[in-house]
Amino acid sequence: MLIDPTGREFSYLRLSITDVCNFKCVYCLPDGYQGGQERGFLSVNEISNTLKAFAHHGIEKVRITGGEPTLRKDFIDVIRVAKDTSGIKKIAATTNGFSLHKNIHNWVDAGLNAINVSIDTLDPRMFNTITGHDKFASVMSGIDTALETGIESVKINSVLMKQYNGQEFETFLNWIKHRPVTIRFIELMQTSDNKTFFDANHVSGQSLKVKLLQSGWQQVARSASAGPAQEFAHPDYQGKIGLIMPYSNDFCSTCNRLRVTAKGNLHLCLFSEEGISLREYMGDNANTALMDLLSRYIKTKKPTHLLHQGNTGITTNLSMLGG
Ligand code: 5AD
Ligand code: SF4
Repeated sequence: MLIDPTGREFSYLRLSITDVCNFKCVYCLPDGYQGGQERGFLSVNEISNTLKAFAHHGIEKVRITGGEPTLRKDFIDVIRVAKDTSGIKKIAATTNGFSLHKNIHNWVDAGLNAINVSIDTLDPRMFNTITGHDKFASVMSGIDTALETGIESVKINSVLMKQYNGQEFETFLNWIKHRPVTIRFIELMQTSDNKTFFDANHVSGQSLKVKLLQSGWQQVARSASAGPAQEFAHPDYQGKIGLIMPYSNDFCSTCNRLRVTAKGNLHLCLFSEEGISLREYMGDNANTALMDLLSRYIKTKKPTHLLHQGNTGITTNLSMLGG
């Protein structure tokens, strides 16, 4: 296992495979992706070698993220190599859902076990305002198609923003009454790009937690490779609620995940100052060296992020690290 100085064990890798995104979410890429046609993202072979090294160290779950990971033409090959990596038991992906409807069957056939879709609002016009795309109906039908495939888990990510979806909590609750979907409300995180937006829109998840507990929702226990959400269930609802509260005091103590960027940098924290490049060790003959490097570097992980002091690290926006 990879174990850091505070004793946390890491079983979950978030692997970004592209920085490119076709949406313009107000909190992430309000002006759209600016990287032009830049390429140089990890090849499927590099991804395969990387997953082998992490799996050797006990990583069991991989989440494929971006940017928008499904924009890559070889997205399905990435799922396949993850599936072929011995030790990897769960393959998840995070998407904005733009092509879910068309492709989810193929992804599930290739081995995808779980999908998270970003939907910050259930109002089609607001969806357009937030993402810059008139795709609400298509993303929503993609979610229903995903449920039909029998995939293990379908989750919605919804970033809480006072001025955009601040009034939609009840609407979301009604929506999961008869749908076995988990909605995870994510507290808006400050990055070096979005300070003004953050100040105007940050809502604490804590008040939602109080509301849930007061109306009969109960917190459910967390599994070892679970994500960062606190989860809640209610006997009258098929769906569940998750709260992701990076500003809460014990958020970092349950950290079980590592991140690799689309260009092969390992980040020990979403908000760390720097990553180290693994790229020169991703070739076919360097797997032992990569494994050694991982065991050494994990010893430098810090106990917590410094977001409370407004220190956002080098993360300019989350499209570079996949949230
Ligand atoms: N704060 C919180 N969540 C964010 N995401 C992107 N940027 C931010 C931010 N500043 C979320 C997206 C997506 C996930 C990958 O990260 O909504 O669901
Ligand atoms: Fe794209 Fe996701 Fe950023 Fe929205 S939050 S712009 S979908 S990377």
